[in-house]
Amino acid sequence: MTKLFKFAILPVILISIFSILNTLFYTWLPKNYIFDKEELQKLSIEAINENPNGNITSILYDLQNKLSNKYGNDIINELNFNDWVFNNAGGAMGQMFILHASISEYLIFFGTAVGTEGHTGIHFADDYFTILKGEQTAAYSNQLSKSIYYPGDQHHLSKGTFKQYSMPSESFALELAQGWIPAMLPFGFLDTFASTLDFITLSRTIYFTAKDMIKNLLNGKF
Ligand SMILES: *[C@@H]1O[C@H](CO)[C@@H](O)[C@H](O)[C@H]1NC(C)=O
Repeated sequence: MTKLFKFAILPVILISIFSILNTLFYTWLPKNYIFDKEELQKLSIEAINENPNGNITSILYDLQNKLSNKYGNDIINELNFNDWVFNNAGGAMGQMFILHASISEYLIFFGTAVGTEGHTGIHFADDYFTILKGEQTAAYSNQLSKSIYYPGDQHHLSKGTFKQYSMPSESFALELAQGWIPAMLPFGFLDTFASTLDFITLSRTIYFTAKDMIKNLLNGKF
């Protein structure tokens, strides 16, 4: 009897936790957001237009400067080329630099020099992906022609939705996620155990993410 009770109670607890987090996602969590997706798209387009030669290194430096001016040095990490990490998730592989990570938001440069394709993952967050160079294609399972996103376009992947996507070589984007960021992390980490066994990348990713989340939390940014 007690055993049966335990089996019955677990799903109830999990569903309750999910409902609470889901309610907070629409009510309290957005009060912690500092980034504005339209502002990010505007700054991205400015950085793209100021570099008509399409030099992506220059676009990233310019955009980081604009973001730092807008949101402050406490919020935005200064771009450098020591702290980039690979990311393997959903069968896709890319490279990223963390501009900001907190419990409710992350902002990263994400892209691929080589090109990639895979599953977006299903996230407890809204994702806004502004193309800076190259392109991204994406489609739902019932969509027979791809959607294409070009530099300056912003691809919104709504919470709970999922697609197949691809990025050809030398495509890069500014990615904003707003929601329960810790719930997204397993998607970003599990391929290490199931496939790559690249514990160097895993530990660097956890280090950069945790360092930023803790720093922001101590500054009162949830
Ligand atoms: C691109 O921009 C970076 C940084 O501004 C610069 O160091 C590099 O030489 C440029 N590359 C080309 C091919 O112009």
